[in-house]
Amino acid sequence: EKGGYDYFMLKEIAEQPQAIADTLLGRLKENGEIVLDEVRLSDQDLRDVDKIFIVACGTAYHSGMVAKYAIEHWTRIPCEVELASEFRYRDPVLDRSTLVVAISQSGETMDTLMALRHAKEQKARVLAICNTNGSTIPRESDAVLYTHGGPEVAVASTKAFLTQLVACYLIGLHLAQVRGIKYADEVAAVVAQLQEMPDKLRELLAGIEPVRDLARDLKAAPTVLFIGRHVGFPVALEGALKLKELAYMHAEGFAAGELKHGPIALIDQGTPVVCIVPSPAGRGMLHDKIVSNIQEIRARGARTIVIAEQGDEAVTPYADHLIYVPRTPTLLAPLVTTVPLQVLACEIAAARGHDVDQPRNLAKSVTVE
Ligand code: F6R
Repeated sequence: EKGGYDYFMLKEIAEQPQAIADTLLGRLKENGEIVLDEVRLSDQDLRDVDKIFIVACGTAYHSGMVAKYAIEHWTRIPCEVELASEFRYRDPVLDRSTLVVAISQSGETMDTLMALRHAKEQKARVLAICNTNGSTIPRESDAVLYTHGGPEVAVASTKAFLTQLVACYLIGLHLAQVRGIKYADEVAAVVAQLQEMPDKLRELLAGIEPVRDLARDLKAAPTVLFIGRHVGFPVALEGALKLKELAYMHAEGFAAGELKHGPIALIDQGTPVVCIVPSPAGRGMLHDKIVSNIQEIRARGARTIVIAEQGDEAVTPYADHLIYVPRTPTLLAPLVTTVPLQVLACEIAAARGHDVDQPRNLAKSVTVE
């Protein structure tokens, strides 16, 4: 059943290239146009959208955080992302020209479902991104984009996260195309890059072995910190969440720019810090900023685990451990930078003797508050 893997989680990590290929299947036309046929909203409806709210929980919320960077950049539509459990109990400003995007692997998460109902009561249109056909969240939404990631058995979400990211990119690109866009060339380039992602992920997974050795080294650390900027920030949060839920270790993710506003005080001799470094080719400034953050924490004793793009030599002097990922445009980078963090959490948990697929106190589908 586990296809030769020790855990469902490792099997599902390995399935990610195919899972994202399946999310893309039939949705990209040869001319670069994006077709989203299950989205039962007319082009006019999509042109009328003047605000987007993304609501989700846990890992799905992290995919929504990444989506905000992409959607605002490509479409110029203001986009907020909020935890469903917060959104549903406050008084968000919504109306019929608001598009609410509810992201849920299971389609049954109570808080996300209630957030969706709360949005519908205020006449907003709701689009679900979901992995489970016919589940409650897509049934109650105006439109749905299924991720087609296949069943996810391990409690910790892996391939669902990557396919949620792809679905969010598709929605952002589709909105940009329908509304007529400023960045037409960039959008066409992104479409081409998305099509290359399954191969890039295969390449990344083929070289993942060193992460396993690193996991054995880190298994006794009292805490592991994660830092990132821009789309690397939600990746840092996701890396920390995976480690908490699987290895039962203290872990925290930070926006690297926040370090000196408090968290840098946590850095002690030997504190492991996983640093998500953006491509030097994309937004050069972002890359340089994080390199200087890495220097700062290292000067204070941190043991740095650097996730950087293949060929990025600027980081080598400051990396105690360096993990290269394939070259990817900045906005799509979470599709590759997340993968070593999934493997790291899985292997640390296994090295500590935990049940990787069924972590204590957690359920796959959270249908209660
Ligand atoms: C973490 C994890 C959870 C879920 C969250 C939302 O690995 O799996 O944080 O992402 O419970 O679940 P869905 O996506 O089913 O709404």
